[in-house]
Amino acid sequence: MANLRICTYPDPVLRQRAAEVTAIDREICRLIDDMAETMYKAPGIGLAANQIGKPLRILVIDIQKPDHEQGLIVLVNPQIVGAQGETTFEEGCLSVPEFFSNVKRFEEVTVRGFDKNEKAVEITANGLLAVALQHEIDHLEGRLFIDRIGPVARDVFKRKWKKKLRDQKE
Ligand code: NI
Repeated sequence: MANLRICTYPDPVLRQRAAEVTAIDREICRLIDDMAETMYKAPGIGLAANQIGKPLRILVIDIQKPDHEQGLIVLVNPQIVGAQGETTFEEGCLSVPEFFSNVKRFEEVTVRGFDKNEKAVEITANGLLAVALQHEIDHLEGRLFIDRIGPVARDVFKRKWKKKLRDQKE
């Protein structure tokens, strides 16, 4: 396994729509292992393949930190097949470090996909897991949580980010 570099905004790979995975072969399995390791090391509760520069429809989530790999969820080609209610949650993202903002999401979602063994899985989740699923599936569409915040929060983000990029150059 390898701990990979996480791409950060405004890396164009984060804006790419990720491609469907056609077979979960050894290479994809290795990628999934690397994604999990990268997520735990970060540490984060979710990671989409775009974030490590691979625009493929794969995500890993573990909201049960720090129980290492106890609650690991792997989803290949995930699809939201049901959604209801509304919730607002303060989100952050490993690709947008040090910025947090409230985002409106569905309260409950049902997601279908495949696990590492090509077994079909269906997860119905609410609360933090539902938010994480929607956040990571957004990544696969090339969408970031900062696209879903209000104009005022977005303005704050833009100014903060400009300053951050400037500070990095110095
Ligand atoms: Ni994210």
